[in-house]
Amino acid sequence: MGELQDIYGRGFKTLRVSLLSTCNLGCIYCTMGSEDEIAYDHRPQTPAARFIELIAAVHAHTGLKTIRLTGGEPLLYRELEAVISGIKALGITDIRMTSNAFLLERSAEKLQQAGLRSVNVSLDAMDANTFFAMTRRKQLPRTLQGIEAAIDAGLEVKINSVIMRGKNHDEVLPLLEYAFEHKVPIRFLEVMSMGHLFGKAGQYLFTQQNMLDTIATRYSFTRLPRKPSATANYWQTAQGDVFGIIGNESAPFCQDCNRLRLDAEGNIYGCLSSNNPIALNGSESSGELNEKLQQAMHQKQSLHFVGSELSMMHIGG
Ligand code: GTP
Ligand code: 5AD
Repeated sequence: MGELQDIYGRGFKTLRVSLLSTCNLGCIYCTMGSEDEIAYDHRPQTPAARFIELIAAVHAHTGLKTIRLTGGEPLLYRELEAVISGIKALGITDIRMTSNAFLLERSAEKLQQAGLRSVNVSLDAMDANTFFAMTRRKQLPRTLQGIEAAIDAGLEVKINSVIMRGKNHDEVLPLLEYAFEHKVPIRFLEVMSMGHLFGKAGQYLFTQQNMLDTIATRYSFTRLPRKPSATANYWQTAQGDVFGIIGNESAPFCQDCNRLRLDAEGNIYGCLSSNNPIALNGSESSGELNEKLQQAMHQKQSLHFVGSELSMMHIGG
């Protein structure tokens, strides 16, 4: 079993697997926000067996410990339960998902039973009109019901809130209150320069410092020590509630990033910023696989996130 490291000594622990490139929401940071610009991928979905074959090869070679399932929207992937139970059967027990939770209410229990441990849910507003403006969908209660069903099913739940200046920056406090009241950990995300926002995200950037200034109008808080390789920095309020901020642009965590990404076409990416996918075919010899994974690790060279035209809908964050 090889120990994968890049030239900065960063190791590999988490494989983020994008199951498909279709989503049932039209969030304005992923798409331009109008219905006809939401890119539906009409190609047949990649079979679960194919994902398992590729993950098994990477696992056998690296001792991979954590899988995060993403999309598009992973709940639109028809063989989701089969993928989860197949990953578990490989001996990987830390199986997580990032989802918009629209379809979670009816599936949370089945997914938990198949082996899913946790879900990070995207929720960008508590106000119905702002939710619609952010996602092009009106059913905010569906997301909230999905969150509650996941908690009831015994899944660990975290909320991810992308904050965009001029779009939803006045939602920071309402989102924080919802999270504190329901005892769900929340992380606010700086908007990233990805996909259609590549080179244009600056006008929407509401920085980690802007978020802290907003939260300071209502709460006093202190910073917690950073956990290695974590995407988020965390703070604790005087009342003991914790919130996180993923400072993708102003405080990126690239220095100890430990992820690789696999898309539904079998391509490996070393970084969200990399435009050079490396195709896996699943039948590589151990030496060939090592070579490809090393190449992907070398794409992680930059210690600063520079953004990419790659769509988040395709690569899954
Ligand atoms: P936890 O394991 O629960 O902490 O999840 P996570 O934060 O690793 O995963 P999630 O899918 O919730 O990702 C949240 C956000 O972190 C993404 O939307 C990205 O903004 C950011 N992120 C995740 N992985 C990377 C990465 O490799 N590079 C950069 N720059 N940002 C990333
Ligand atoms: N900037 C920051 N976060 C983004 N996400 C999708 N696109 C962007 C972007 N441009 C988030 C989603 C989800 C996570 C995987 O990525 O809201 O929580």
